[in-house]
Amino acid sequence: MSLAYDDRGQGPVVVLLHGFPLDRTMWSGQVDDLSTSFRLILPDLPGHGGSPVAPGVVTMEAMADAVVGLLDELGLTGPVVLGGLSMGGYVALEALARHPGRFRALMLLDTRATPDTPEAAANREVLARKVEEAGYAQPVIDAMRPKLVSKTTQDRAPAIVEELVQVMARTPTAGIAGALRGMAVRPDRTADLVGSGLPTLILVGADDVITPPAEMQGLAAAVPGSRFATIPEAGHLAPREQPAACNREIRSFLGELS
Ligand code: MLT
Repeated sequence: MSLAYDDRGQGPVVVLLHGFPLDRTMWSGQVDDLSTSFRLILPDLPGHGGSPVAPGVVTMEAMADAVVGLLDELGLTGPVVLGGLSMGGYVALEALARHPGRFRALMLLDTRATPDTPEAAANREVLARKVEEAGYAQPVIDAMRPKLVSKTTQDRAPAIVEELVQVMARTPTAGIAGALRGMAVRPDRTADLVGSGLPTLILVGADDVITPPAEMQGLAAAVPGSRFATIPEAGHLAPREQPAACNREIRSFLGELS
């Protein structure tokens, strides 16, 4: 599958994978700033944005292979920095497990390495069926809207919430259902991450209710030498909500890579 993507800037390659059920526009707060120092590769994951929709369950493995396929298409065979937010983080960890030599550092934003609980997986199936029955993203918009950003962003920057709703509304129902079912069957990648030996940035919005700071701090404590950052006044979409603070952390982390 060939993915839609943006390729911006020059310098060391940094691949950023968006969250569910969004697209590469999620990185609008990073592009202009970080592309002055790095070459940013921003794919739309399968079934999202401008990328093709695959039928059935779209596993994190399939998404990871599609991302590595894009790197192959671009001739980027040397190790690159890989970052992902939430579902993008699940895909990044899958890519690390399946293609370990392709990456030289990791950035895990508002995400986790553990699999779904049985209850979470069952809830995803209920949501996937609701979306399929509706034939439209509305059930997932209703589920995600209150949780995606912090109260601060909801109050001070409602345009960001509206923008995210518009992106979700454009995501094809088969893309949403396939990703929900794929996330529900993802494996535990904690051991792969802990054993990777790669420099790792673990970043979370202080008000993230989907992947809370305490959980991400626990992950950081388990990953030797990782760097942990909390972004104030941000929720689950920290890079979109507080781009300047996130970009500072990202630049500082990338600046220390050899
Ligand atoms: C995301 O932002 O990608 C989702 O919250 C991931 C998930 O539902 O686990």
